[in-house]
Amino acid sequence: MSTVARTDASEIAVHWKEEEYIQPSARFIGQANLTDPGVVERFTEEKFPECFREYADLLTWDEYWHTTLDTSRPPFWKWFVGGRLNASYNCVDRHLAAHKNKAALIFVPEAETEPAHALTYQELYTRVNEVAAVLRDFCGLTAGDRVTIHMPMILELPITMLACARLGIIHSVVFGGFSGEAAGLRAADSDSRVMIYADAYYRNGKLIDHKANADIAVRTAEGEGQRIEKVLVWRRHPGQDLTNAAMVPGRDYYMDDLLKGYRRVKVAPVSVESEHPLFLMYTSGSTGKPKGCQHRTGGYLAYVTGTAKYYQDLHPEDVYWCMADIGWITGHSYIVYGPLALGATSVIFEGVPNYPDAGRPWRIAEQLDVNIFHTSPTAIRMLRKAGPDEPAKYAYRFKHMTTVGEPIEPEAWRWYHEVVGKGEAVIVDTWWQTETGGFLITTKPALDPMKAGSAGPPALGIFPVIYDENGKEIPGGSGKAGNICIRNPWPSIMQTIWKDDDRFVRQYYAKYCRNPKSTDWRDWPYFAADGAVLAPDGYYRILGRVDDVINVAGHRIGTKEVESACLTVPQVAEAAVVPVVDEIRGRMPTIYVSLKPGVADPQKVSEQIVATVETIIGKIARPKGVHIVPDLPKTRSGKIMRRILAAISNRMDTGDVTTLANPEIVEQIRKQVQGEGPVEMQEGPEDVKHFGEQE
Ligand code: WT7
Repeated sequence: MSTVARTDASEIAVHWKEEEYIQPSARFIGQANLTDPGVVERFTEEKFPECFREYADLLTWDEYWHTTLDTSRPPFWKWFVGGRLNASYNCVDRHLAAHKNKAALIFVPEAETEPAHALTYQELYTRVNEVAAVLRDFCGLTAGDRVTIHMPMILELPITMLACARLGIIHSVVFGGFSGEAAGLRAADSDSRVMIYADAYYRNGKLIDHKANADIAVRTAEGEGQRIEKVLVWRRHPGQDLTNAAMVPGRDYYMDDLLKGYRRVKVAPVSVESEHPLFLMYTSGSTGKPKGCQHRTGGYLAYVTGTAKYYQDLHPEDVYWCMADIGWITGHSYIVYGPLALGATSVIFEGVPNYPDAGRPWRIAEQLDVNIFHTSPTAIRMLRKAGPDEPAKYAYRFKHMTTVGEPIEPEAWRWYHEVVGKGEAVIVDTWWQTETGGFLITTKPALDPMKAGSAGPPALGIFPVIYDENGKEIPGGSGKAGNICIRNPWPSIMQTIWKDDDRFVRQYYAKYCRNPKSTDWRDWPYFAADGAVLAPDGYYRILGRVDDVINVAGHRIGTKEVESACLTVPQVAEAAVVPVVDEIRGRMPTIYVSLKPGVADPQKVSEQIVATVETIIGKIARPKGVHIVPDLPKTRSGKIMRRILAAISNRMDTGDVTTLANPEIVEQIRKQVQGEGPVEMQEGPEDVKHFGEQE
């Protein structure tokens, strides 16, 4: 793996060379949405916040808004105040006049024997209406209610989301790969009384029985005091029974059965205020409980539509494929809402990229003539490893590619550019977060040159700053890293953490707020919890998380969530989870535990820990290793020193350990993990170096 920039300027020269600029092709520029360099002038700080009218005007408003930004109650910003709109109308109905026969979504099943299926805007309209009728008339749901959707990548997922949006119901989609327990906890947190599932789906050549998770989720939610009245179950093959889990009478309903009663029913889109919440998306933070990031309708939709148009260069005639999962923010913003608001064609792929082989994505690209492709560094590394020469075998041609989710090493970037993009596609490396709703740092594809490994300049209307721990600005070109913050609000910043305004303020604003009484947005920088360095040319290079969150394959896993899962194994006394560098997945959690006295079979406990983590959180959190150790290194006040364990797991210098309560344990653990002989020490990436530092 390549190295990441260091905090110390003298080291940067050694470990990180400035990459060269690569210019977009004339062919790309010739057709791009955003080619006017004057756009930068339209989005300067003097033009803020009015500049975002340009994005809002991409939408159809039932009632036009009067105030762009209301800062009267910081940091609970309000955008496009006075406006009313409906997200489902904007993503579906308004395209019927010009594009009703155009594919809105193309579903690609995992099995290559099952044909791809295109859904036109007209068909999408019909299906969204029918599902909305079920939600309204059968479930009795109305605007403001929450519904938890735990579904895989099938067409019915975006259809269900849009049906919720049509009624102003706040959807909370939980990634299909998460466990039933994880879904149940999220359903309880959002007070959902309806959950929506699929019975089964294909993954890695296997049919996964997903309905079983619904039963676990309902039980978990009820354990938290939240009764789930109804579970709606989409069938992967309507009419066929694919699940072994029984349908609970009076609670579970197959959607294909229910829909028979709602054929051709039309449901008028419910016009909601700009600030009406559109959805919740749970994400891991630095304390155990996942945070329900609450996103608004107007500002969110305007921002993702504008950024999909300018940075992804979506045109209605493009075929766009984002290989992420809709269960993450990437999928919400850049598979569903942004592309559909633009009337584009968005591909939904059920399977995994390397099944049955690493040529699969490129066969899909060739078959559907995909010309815009979007994926993560993890997928890029994996496909590069499994089939470096595969892309050349297929006759697709990308004009544009995106990478998102974690820092990408220049080597992986170059393979993406030269081999996947055939040296022709322009690349945007987009930095953002679940909380931010849309891209915050990225090159403008036809206007800015690319630089491997750098996300690039700020997105239009976004004014970042890098602060040190004391709130002093670290200037560009200093070679020093610090905490990247955004000085200003923007339309798709989350509204709050669901039911937890205090935690929202604490997590994102308390650290650098200059004056809690001020209603001037300039006093409220947004703290992103990522490290970054700013090059002299104004390009940002993102170094990774500064809090105790592990970025696994581009997704945040909370350390404390994994630790509390470990502690449910009865033999475990204490647990500490740290990131370890992984060639493909970027980082993976590694678990250190000490056991209660008298445990006979530690090997069995290890296996139990792995199984438990998979059950409680999901396979995404599967540890790279489990180390059963006699004790964990602790400070004199009893805090577990995760930083030291991270150093051991990554063969980095553990630093001074003499002030610990039990310094001798460090060497003992080191020998256990690294072996007796001498080991070559590594410099280690920035996020691992500083892991758990605030403890
Ligand atoms: C974290 C957010 C944003 C959608 C997917 C992940 C890391 C994201 C980049 C990038 C370097 C990146 C950051 C960020 N990250 N994009 N282009 N370069 N790092 O959403 O799960 O909320 O994670 O992913 O560390 O804070 P998320």
